[in-house]
Order: sequence, then structure tokens, then C-alpha cells
Amino acid sequence: MNYQEAISHSYDLVKMLKQQGTLADYIPELANIDPSKLGAYIATIDQNNFGIGDYQEAFSIQSISKVFNVCLAYKILGEDIWKRLGVEPSGDKFNSLVLLEQEKGIPRNPFINAGAIVVADILLSHLDNPKENVLSFIKEFSNCNNIYYNPEIASSEKSVGYRNIAICNFIKSYGNIENEPEDVLDLYYDLCSLETDCETLSHLFLFLANQGKTLHTQKQILSPSQTKRINAVMQTCGIYDESGEFAYRVGISGKSGVGGGIVAILPGNYAITVWSPKLNAKGNSYKGIRFLEEFTTLSEKSIF
Ligand code: DON
Repeated sequence: MNYQEAISHSYDLVKMLKQQGTLADYIPELANIDPSKLGAYIATIDQNNFGIGDYQEAFSIQSISKVFNVCLAYKILGEDIWKRLGVEPSGDKFNSLVLLEQEKGIPRNPFINAGAIVVADILLSHLDNPKENVLSFIKEFSNCNNIYYNPEIASSEKSVGYRNIAICNFIKSYGNIENEPEDVLDLYYDLCSLETDCETLSHLFLFLANQGKTLHTQKQILSPSQTKRINAVMQTCGIYDESGEFAYRVGISGKSGVGGGIVAILPGNYAITVWSPKLNAKGNSYKGIRFLEEFTTLSEKSIF
């Protein structure tokens, strides 16, 4: 099946499935999202783009932003970034603290909250206006760049951020946070509050399918080798403690967020985004994973 047919079939199938899971209601603002939303959009390197359902409606991208942030921190520090973070899956929930004591404040990878908080600390140390600088960096990736911070989401998360406060302070006690925890967390919540739609996200992620180069300006955002590494970490850690299952069922690299979005990359080929707000027990979009599994099965293309 071609991509459009595979998307349409997957959409019809997943739309009919019984809703399962819960909204990310630990962030009060995210409890208000309409759980029936479903959208998907594919952007391909040969510009064979296609969307379906609620693909032009903005949603909270949450941890999907961790990919943009680590790309910028990787550009700034080069391989030295891996002195402060690992590239191994944690096998634990995205907001777990358990390994941090054993591993002396070096988070397993940049996609769990602990790792993303260290990335926020790196950005805070190296950029003059981190919030603005990150957004300008992201907007270079594509012409399609309607992406913005949502201050209500950031302050809603901050008002209940006890677990992230614990993670940040614990890492600081090992010396792997340079700035004041409150400043690091303010930036972290802002970065998580980014909003955009499936269409924009797929266009923004396409450089990761294109050896690190943008399609519209041919600008090299990351080197091909760095791009390989980011895709590899997405494959092994992007869906948290469900990354193995995701690799097995979907077969391409991906990154999820508790807003219900998942972006996935087939290197050399496409970026695809799906959005359905209800999450499974591991904090990943229930219908989003089902959709991507159908899509790669029907299109008969994957990394493997
Ligand atoms: O820190 C948090 O808990 C959220 N701002 C982000 C978590 C997230 O998106 C995990 N993704 N599945």
C-alpha cells in the first residue's frame, strides 16, 4: 500500500477502536483536552505529504520537545554532552528517580525527565535567552513553523511539579546541575509547553530523516553522524519503558509526549506524527501506537 492508503486505512481502524487509557491529568491543564481527537500527518523527503483527521489542530507536544532540546545541546557541547547524560534505556517510567542514586546523578538518556532537566541546565548555561534561542533554532528546521509556547500549560505543570523538583534537586546534589534548580525547571516547563500540530511537527522533524539537513534551505542542522546517533537514542529510549515494544511493533524510531503525540522517523524517507490524547500505563498514546503499528505494517516499510 502507498503511504496515503496506509494512513487512511490505519486511521479508519484506530478511529473505531474503543478508547482506552487516561489523559495526562497529573498536569491539570492537560485534563481538559477532548479525548476523542485523532490526527496524523506524514511529510516525506520527496514531498509526498498527506494528513488526516485533526492534523491541523495544535496540541501540547510535551516530551517530544526533548528531541529539539538535545539536538541544540549536542550542537553546543559536541560529544562532551555524553559526560553528563547516557544513551541507555532506563527501563523505568519517564519520571522515575530510582537509578539516579545508583548512577550518581548521571541520567540514563536525554528523553527521560531527569535527562531532559540536565539538557535544560546545559541550555541555560550556554545561551543568552534560552527560551527564545530554542524556538529560533526549531523554526529553522522548516518553512512550516507554527510552533509556540503555552504559558498556561507551563504554569499548570509548575504548580504540581513536585516530582521534577525532586529529580532536579537530587541531580544537583551530585553536581550535575550547574544553575539554580528553580531556573532550570522554569526553562524545562516552558520547553515542555510547546504547542503545534501534526503537520508542523512532521515538517520540523523531517531533517532527522534527511541526514540532518533541512529540505527547504538544505541547511545542515546536525552532521549525518550526529543525526544517526539522535535517531538511535530515539529508537532505544524515545518511548520510555515501552521502547522495545515500539521497536518490535512499529519498527521505526519515535518520540512520544504526554499530550498524546508521537513523532516517528524512517531515515531516508519520512517523518510521521500521530495525535490521540489518551495514554496507556506507560504514558504513551494508546491509539497513537496502534496507528503507527498498522501504518508500518500496511506500508511494508520500516528500519528492519
Ligand atoms: O515533566 C513531565 O512530566 C512532562 N512535562 C513531560 C513528560 C512526557 O511528556 C513524557 N512522555 N510520554
